[in-house]
Amino acid sequence: MKDRIVRSPLFYVGDKRKLMCQIKTHFPSHIDRLIEPFVGGGSVFMNVDADGFLLNDLNHIVIQIHSMLSSYCDRKDDFFREVFSLIRKYGLTSSFLGIPQERGKSCDCKDVNREAYNRMKTDFNSGGRKDGMLLYLLIIYGFNHMIRFNKKGEFNLPVGNLDFNENVYNALNDYFAQTERKQPQWHSQDFKAFLAEIEFRKDDLVYLDPPYLISSSEYNKMWNEECECNLITEMDRLDAMGVRFAVSNAITYRGKKNDIFGEWAKKYNIHPISSNYISYWDNSRKDSGEVLVTNY
Ligand SMILES: C[S@@+](CC[C@H](N)C(=O)[O-])C[C@H]1O[C@@H](n2cnc3c(N)ncnc32)[C@H](O)[C@@H]1O
Repeated sequence: MKDRIVRSPLFYVGDKRKLMCQIKTHFPSHIDRLIEPFVGGGSVFMNVDADGFLLNDLNHIVIQIHSMLSSYCDRKDDFFREVFSLIRKYGLTSSFLGIPQERGKSCDCKDVNREAYNRMKTDFNSGGRKDGMLLYLLIIYGFNHMIRFNKKGEFNLPVGNLDFNENVYNALNDYFAQTERKQPQWHSQDFKAFLAEIEFRKDDLVYLDPPYLISSSEYNKMWNEECECNLITEMDRLDAMGVRFAVSNAITYRGKKNDIFGEWAKKYNIHPISSNYISYWDNSRKDSGEVLVTNY
């Protein structure tokens, strides 16, 4: 039977959920530790089996949310009690709880929730920005579930169109089950510093999903050609140490080409990944040359 692909409750922009079936076919059958220097929302570790999980992201807010959520993995009832009480306190809608209409009926929530959302945002920002549960709710009710802070360090996303619905509830339950079983270790450093501290073992797998140099998203702003060169140097170093790696990237994207990565990848095994969800087998019609490169 095909594995069910579970979804991260961070609903992370650029996550690998929809590509996991393809990516997993290129992973080794036994992995001692799965090591992810660019874990993002966590869609990969949630859908891969290994004996241990070392997970890292430079964005400490992302790691703060993962640590907070996974700390509830063996007391998820407490988590839901606290979250539902906040939803009621602020007067937010929840299609899951049936507030205000029938349970399960989704709502166009933007206008209804704007005021309550802004009150929650003010409380989070004026309360020292430490409340992980409020931050999680701001992301769930925020525009496109994004995580965005201004230069003053204040969370500044506007309200979005969705509320706490069945998908959020299911994703959280899947996340609690996965983190309870997998007991991941969380880190927040630059990928090079993170990898430098690891004493690798024979059956480890390093899976890397860096920002793509030639595509655009919020976290790509911090990524440039120098970062890309550091990335490939780091992977050559892993290879020289006999450590297995698999790295995702796009060699072409909407008329742009990533020559740094494309030339380097020729030394290893290049597996085309189809990001055309309509036709899995037909690579020719898509405009993104997404690949998985492995050294095993
Ligand atoms: C493409 S996303 C990863 C998505 C993830 N695979 C998922 O499924 O959700 C890339 C991630 O790299 C992180 N990042 C950017 N620069 C980094 C660096 N120098 N070191 C470590 N992480 C970095 C970003 O914060 C972002 O979360």
